[in-house]
Amino acid sequence: MPEKHQISCVAVFGGTGFLGMEIVARLASEGIDVRVGVRQPEKVRPPPDAGEHAKIEPVYADVRDESSLALALDGCDAAVNAVGLYVEQSAETFEAVHERGAANLARQCAALKIGRVVHISGIGADLNSASPYVRSRARGETLVRDVMPETVILSPSVLFGPQDKFINTLAQIISRAPVVPMFGDGLMRLQPAYVGDVALATHKALTDPQAAGQTYELGGASVLTYRRILELVMERLHKNRVLLPLPFAVWDALAAASALLPASPITRDQVALMKGDNVVADNALSFADLGIEPRALEDILPDYSF
Ligand SMILES: NC(=O)c1ccc[n+]([C@@H]2O[C@H](COP(=O)([O-])OP(=O)(O)OC[C@H]3O[C@@H](n4cnc5c(N)ncnc54)[C@H](OP(=O)(O)O)[C@@H]3O)[C@@H](O)[C@H]2O)c1
Repeated sequence: MPEKHQISCVAVFGGTGFLGMEIVARLASEGIDVRVGVRQPEKVRPPPDAGEHAKIEPVYADVRDESSLALALDGCDAAVNAVGLYVEQSAETFEAVHERGAANLARQCAALKIGRVVHISGIGADLNSASPYVRSRARGETLVRDVMPETVILSPSVLFGPQDKFINTLAQIISRAPVVPMFGDGLMRLQPAYVGDVALATHKALTDPQAAGQTYELGGASVLTYRRILELVMERLHKNRVLLPLPFAVWDALAAASALLPASPITRDQVALMKGDNVVADNALSFADLGIEPRALEDILPDYSF
């Protein structure tokens, strides 16, 4: 078996995000120095369980600004792109962040001869998708691989963990409303991935030489319909609610209307993602190929403090 890569300093971009913070904590707990490249370095907090010797250095970086990336990468031997945008706003477009931004980072890594790079994408990235978000994720993957074919791409299904937006938002709705509207019949299949497992996969992908140039689709231990996920949250909350199937035409109209609000509660891209399954493909590499036994949503639900 080839020897593991030794890594001493990783630059993590998007380190203030839900997944990015978990990646920073995981790498720091492995004794790796972490440079956290973010737009607001003052927002970076050392993870509570990182250990007293952890070296976590916040630096300014915007993926749209190549010179900031060069400075953030200086002296590092690996990089992680966990940057993501869910709602476009003026110059912050999917194209600017997921495509040009990702390509900027890959170019800088190539120029600085940083060979170990993990790019976080998402299951279902598709150049032909009706969703601009999903198309931009697919183009981002292509652009990154054009510049650095050895980049490891990690594509998770929807992420969960006690601090997530996904399950916590469902819990809020279930707590407050007697009737819970569902996307269509609620029978689309998801394979939620535990955020801590994806952070572990990131560490393995950086250090396992066999991961270079591979794409891993990361899904948790259980495949669940959306309806079943709602039922699990209801059980956890001890609430019995009516699940109301709502046709996608209604969701499309709601998303279009909410795009006019300052903070959209639901976006067209979120609706588009719910129109199909979001599970690991039969022939895809996954957690097991990185030596990880992923957890299931059912295992972690008791840890939420709703
Ligand atoms: N959450 C999920 O269920 C899920 C599922 C599949 C795939 N993913 C992918 O996982 C990645 C992380 O997702 P997440 O849920 O952790 O997202 P998140 O919580 O919204 O965090 C996004 C991060 O990106 C940073 N960012 C945004 N624009 C930036 C820019 N121009 N330059 C530098 N940093 C920028 C944000 O920093 P600021 O603090 O400066 O805004 C933040 O740290 C994304 O690629 C996402 O598509 C997530």
